[in-house]
Amino acid sequence: MAKRVFITGSSDGLGRMAAQLLIEQGHSAVLHARNAQRGEEALSAVPGAEKVVIGDLSSISQTRRVAEQVNRLGSFDAVIHNAAVGYQEPRRITTEDGLPHVFAVNTLAPYILTAMIERPKRLVYLSSGLHQSGDASLTDLTWEARPWRGQQAYSDTKLHDVLLAFAVAGRWPKVFSNALEPGWVPTKMGGPSAPDDLDKGHRTQVWLAVSDDPAARVTGQYFYHRKTRKPNPATRDTDLQESLLESCRRLSGVELP
Ligand SMILES: NC(=O)c1ccc[n+]([C@@H]2O[C@H](COP(=O)([O-])OP(=O)(O)OC[C@H]3O[C@@H](n4cnc5c(N)ncnc54)[C@H](OP(=O)(O)O)[C@@H]3O)[C@@H](O)[C@H]2O)c1
Repeated sequence: MAKRVFITGSSDGLGRMAAQLLIEQGHSAVLHARNAQRGEEALSAVPGAEKVVIGDLSSISQTRRVAEQVNRLGSFDAVIHNAAVGYQEPRRITTEDGLPHVFAVNTLAPYILTAMIERPKRLVYLSSGLHQSGDASLTDLTWEARPWRGQQAYSDTKLHDVLLAFAVAGRWPKVFSNALEPGWVPTKMGGPSAPDDLDKGHRTQVWLAVSDDPAARVTGQYFYHRKTRKPNPATRDTDLQESLLESCRRLSGVELP
């Protein structure tokens, strides 16, 4: 049966490929882009997309508006939290809210959207193999005490994405909430010499969002190429999950129901 899916960061890379594949499979895809021009580009790159929602996820107020736009479109079967920025920021880029850019886009935005978008049947969070070396102490989430290290900052946020997926799986038992790593693939983020298969990079997120395969109808799991993979054990710590939710609530002013 055709399903309706919202995909963040679908103006490029794996998000755009996921939207194209969903439409090829007969599903309905709502895209998301950072601004109107990227929105136009996304719509022309993904013929058949239902609509595009606009907002820069590095801004708390714009992220809130993304959630409001999505809710005005009605309900969704699945939301794929795909948008992110990579690991090569050479310094702590500070957003309008005073947060590190990588944290705002990769951690806080999926938290805000999860909390504010009307609950779908499935949630999919894009993590990375680098989450294994994320800082599980969750101290200094906003990089005020530590000297900046771009790759560590990215890895931390990808650990947060798994913690968020599992926290939601625990809180909302009727929703399938899972995380995955797509492999290191040659998108804008992955770079031209990324070694993994680009054609496999977007398929697991689509499968988790819409497939009736019993292996995809699970919750609180971590995947790589449609197979479960062991995540960083810290992601199973419910106190740590709650601690991340509490920090995100404090920093965004948005409560996860
Ligand atoms: N590629 C890899 O090797 C790899 C490996 C592990 C995990 N991942 C994960 O896979 C996901 C997709 O990555 P990708 O490789 O497809 O990256 P990408 O090609 O760089 O695409 C990222 C998407 O996110 C959007 N985006 C970034 N910042 C945004 C912001 N502030 N507001 C709104 N949209 C924003 C981008 O918009 P613009 O096009 O306008 O920039 C683009 O559509 C990410 O979560 C990433 O962490 C990727």
